[in-house]
Amino acid sequence: MSDMRSQLTVKLIEALTLKGGEAILDLATGTGRVARPLSKQMQSGRIVGVDEALAMLDVGHHHKDPIERYELSAGEADKLPFKSGLFDRAFVSFSLHHFGNPAGVVGEVQRVLKPGGRFVVLDPVIEESKDAVDVALEAKINQVFRRTHGEGFRFHTVSSIERLLTKAGYRVPRKSVISYPFNQEGMDGIPTGRHWLEAALELEKEAPELAERMKKNYFTWHAHGEHAHVKGSFSYALITGVKPA
Ligand SMILES: C[S@@+](CC[C@H](N)C(=O)[O-])C[C@H]1O[C@@H](n2cnc3c(N)ncnc32)[C@H](O)[C@@H]1O
Repeated sequence: MSDMRSQLTVKLIEALTLKGGEAILDLATGTGRVARPLSKQMQSGRIVGVDEALAMLDVGHHHKDPIERYELSAGEADKLPFKSGLFDRAFVSFSLHHFGNPAGVVGEVQRVLKPGGRFVVLDPVIEESKDAVDVALEAKINQVFRRTHGEGFRFHTVSSIERLLTKAGYRVPRKSVISYPFNQEGMDGIPTGRHWLEAALELEKEAPELAERMKKNYFTWHAHGEHAHVKGSFSYALITGVKPA
């Protein structure tokens, strides 16, 4: 699981299909966790990281090993501080679910991309809802995450991300789902795992039917004392949108 992020980053970089010399937008760059390995593969071109959190940008900026070909801008994802048609590529990693206005964001990215430019989205995804129990489970999971991550938080599904892109006018030539299994004590090393377990334990007390569905769709848990054994898998979507030429 500790390799999970680096494996996903490799796949994201592949999906960018770089030829050399591209101007690349790293939307919600955080501390540049993707920009760093990406920059190591670039002989030319540049990466422009944008984030609303100045504190995150600061960490990326003052790192002892600075990222090459990397510039930083403070900005909101749905109001980008750039002229139209500036970038050849854009990507957003582990952040779409934080945006309160995802439709505004994908439209704004399209504005700053050149015609034919690519936008690669990497995000954790939940299962598509098949019935009312799935719908209630999704609402509960989002409710637990909003307590710590704010009101804008919302997990997407593969089809909701694809819909966001196609509605904004992108063509979607590539989409894949990558699942990572786990079977371990506690949620250490599993991104956001702690909150998933919190949701699971709440459901067990409040809504046994939803807890059963959580087990079927995502993972099982066996609490013993302060600890819990967890077994299941989480999935990540890697989806490419292309701005019409
Ligand atoms: C989980 S981090 C991911 C960072 C990085 N992309 C990565 O893969 O490690 C989410 C980032 O999204 C940023 N963010 C959230 N909402 C934003 C918005 N509306 N505009 C710009 N950045 C935003 C946060 O400040 C944070 O740095």
